[in-house]
Amino acid sequence: MRYLVTGGAGYIGSHVVLALLDAGHEVVVIDNFITGHRDAIPKDVEQHDVDLLDYHATSNVLAKKRWDGVLHFAALSLVGESIEKPFHYLRNNYQASLNLIQLCSKYAVEKFVFSSTAALFGGPDRCEAISETASIQPASPYGESKYMVECILRWADKIYGLKSTCLRYFNAAGADPFNRAGEDHSPETHLIPLTIDAALGRRPPLQLFGLDYPTPDGTCIRDYVHVTDIAEAHIRALECLNEKSTAFNLGNGRGYSNLEVIQSVERVSGRRVPWEPAMRRLGDPAVLVADSSRIKRETGWSPRFDTLDKIVETAFAWRAKHPYGYDK
Ligand code: UFG
Repeated sequence: MRYLVTGGAGYIGSHVVLALLDAGHEVVVIDNFITGHRDAIPKDVEQHDVDLLDYHATSNVLAKKRWDGVLHFAALSLVGESIEKPFHYLRNNYQASLNLIQLCSKYAVEKFVFSSTAALFGGPDRCEAISETASIQPASPYGESKYMVECILRWADKIYGLKSTCLRYFNAAGADPFNRAGEDHSPETHLIPLTIDAALGRRPPLQLFGLDYPTPDGTCIRDYVHVTDIAEAHIRALECLNEKSTAFNLGNGRGYSNLEVIQSVERVSGRRVPWEPAMRRLGDPAVLVADSSRIKRETGWSPRFDTLDKIVETAFAWRAKHPYGYDK
């Protein structure tokens, strides 16, 4: 099969590119390389340095070949930054996706898999595992922009028959188990890479945002799902996407507190993590845990990296080998 991957140079996109290649598919990448890394994509993969906001340039790529599917990752993805720059986020995530989906409808692409997010559910007071039927209440322009794309896809199916699966990831983490790709954001804001770097002495002590949440140890709880398991979920979603568009929540179904993340990094690295208490970060829900039973039932997906230590081991291996990330 031939798949077009937008944002294939990004963290999750690059791992999905590897999974598609491993499964024997042909892959073409579109990326504007603003946050993505050229070194994250294998050299022999066709790449287009194109911004999806450029309708004509995107159209030229779409028109070149027949596509068995499009996987759409290209987006800005920081919740806090989206509150500071709402229009920037809405333009980049919504307008760019609108261009892409319009073109997929025009060129009769049959299957579309969209990189959605648990940020759709917002809600700082939620404690139960979140299923697909939970109410959608984005608490940030980032979450809202992703929900708006889900809405575009609903209409693209109703009117043009474009079948789509939206995968709403919880906290993506870890790195390719063969160390071919990993997590490298600039600036880095995610807990696991920051904790590992603190353990390795590459950063000042980790600032732990909030110790007074209504959780057993007072720190936030998140559902970490390995990026290679996320990649596998895309393969399953493509295989199972035939008659009906759908959305799946994607997580391990088990929450770990921020203090448990620190303990896991200490176990895996054999080093102490220096950390200090800090104020709560604006917009952080206390608990975000997925109910992923629907994707398991409907596609047979299940996570291979089903404990935090297994996830942290791969993240640690990658960061230990790439002290300065890609491109440096
Ligand atoms: N945290 C710290 N100190 C830091 C960084 C993070 O204490 O320096 C805490 C946060 O406050 C939060 C937890 O670690 O409690 C996880 O934070 P991350 O930034 O790693 O991840 P988020 O849960 O904020 O967000 C991630 C993605 C979003 C996605 C969301 C869905 O970045 O794109 O998961 O669950 F929407």
